[in-house]
This record gives sequence, C-alpha cells and structure tokens, in this order.
Amino acid sequence: MSDITLTDDLIRVLIDEETIQARVVELAQQINRDYAHLDSTLILVGVLKGSFIFLADLVRHLEVDHVVDFIALSSYDGGQSGNVRLLMDTRENMEDKHVLIVEDILDSGNTLDYLMRNFRTRGPKSVRTAVLLDKPDRHILPIDIAYLGFTIPDVWVVGYGLDYNEKYRTLPYIAEMKPQG
Ligand code: IMP
Ligand code: MG
Repeated sequence: MSDITLTDDLIRVLIDEETIQARVVELAQQINRDYAHLDSTLILVGVLKGSFIFLADLVRHLEVDHVVDFIALSSYDGGQSGNVRLLMDTRENMEDKHVLIVEDILDSGNTLDYLMRNFRTRGPKSVRTAVLLDKPDRHILPIDIAYLGFTIPDVWVVGYGLDYNEKYRTLPYIAEMKPQG
C-alpha cells in the first residue's frame, strides 16, 4: 500500500486494506462458530453511519442465519463525546432473539454502554458487540467486546466507514489524521 497518495490531512495508513479484509473474515468465522447452533434468529444491528462498510463486509462472510438492522445515534458533537441521542431506531423486534451490535470504533464507551442497556430492556436472548477498532486509552465506561478487529492508539482515524466531518469514509484502509487545530 505504499503507492497511496495521502492528502495533507492524513499522516499514515494505520491498517491497510488486505489486513482489514483478512481480519473481517476471521471475525466472521468466529461468529459462524459461536452462533452455529442458534435457537432463534440473530439480528445484526449496524450503528450508523460508521459501521456500514464493516457490516457489509462482515455479513458477506456469515454462514449463520441472520437479519440486518440499523440504528442511528449521535454521540459526537464537534468532537465531544458523552451525549448519546437516538436519531433512528431499529425495526426488528428483539424479543427472544440474539442481538449482535456492529460498531466501527469504541472510544469513550458511551455509545455502546447506551446501546447495551437500551437493548437489554427489549427482552433479547443475548446482546453482544462486534467492534472493528478499539482505543483503550479513551475508555470512560467498561465495555465487553465479544469480537474485536484491532486495538489502536489514541489518534483520530478515518476510512473504512469512519469519517472526519463526513470526509474519508470510503477509503479502503484506516488512516491516521493529522490533529485538526
Ligand atoms: P464513544 O461513544 O465515545 O465510544 O464514541 C464512539 C463513536 O465516536 C464512534 O462510533 C465513532 O462514530 C466516533 N469516533 C470515535 N473515535 C473516532 C475516530 O477516531 N474516527 C472516527 N470516528 C470516531
Ligand atoms: Mg460509530
């Protein structure tokens, strides 16, 4: 991936396309094993917008029966996390179903803490999380990640679904951004 032309905003490629794709296959294989003998439907809930590419790649390697759903939250207002607001709810009824939340990145933990607590009130059989990236240095709330892609340092990253002010989401790799003044 050395031939990538990074723009002025991007410092370096943190995780290249091949590495991401290989890891997504491994995560799907783990999910296939763990949910192989399902007693009820598995609902994958993608957290919009950041998870849509990760989710799309992940489900194409799933062999277990599942349905895809989405939820939209806003947790970042001008770079400040903490205030989680529900923008669009899921459509599927979670009662007696297995739920797997698919999230792009675990930062403070506010988003996933909110979702886990909210979904558990809806009577699911189980609620677990699949998270592509984890920034352990940023955690405020403890979150249990069942399927983790990569651990990364405390830097702002873009690409593979993740954005900076809606830019860079469709890069096929994860890049580190220059700190924005
Ligand atoms: P949390 O609620 O603080 O864990 O924040 C999670 C959300 O913040 C993620 O779902 C992302 O939308 C966003 N976020 C946190 N760090 C980054 C980053 O480095 N790049 C892009 N989005 C990020
Ligand atoms: Mg997100």
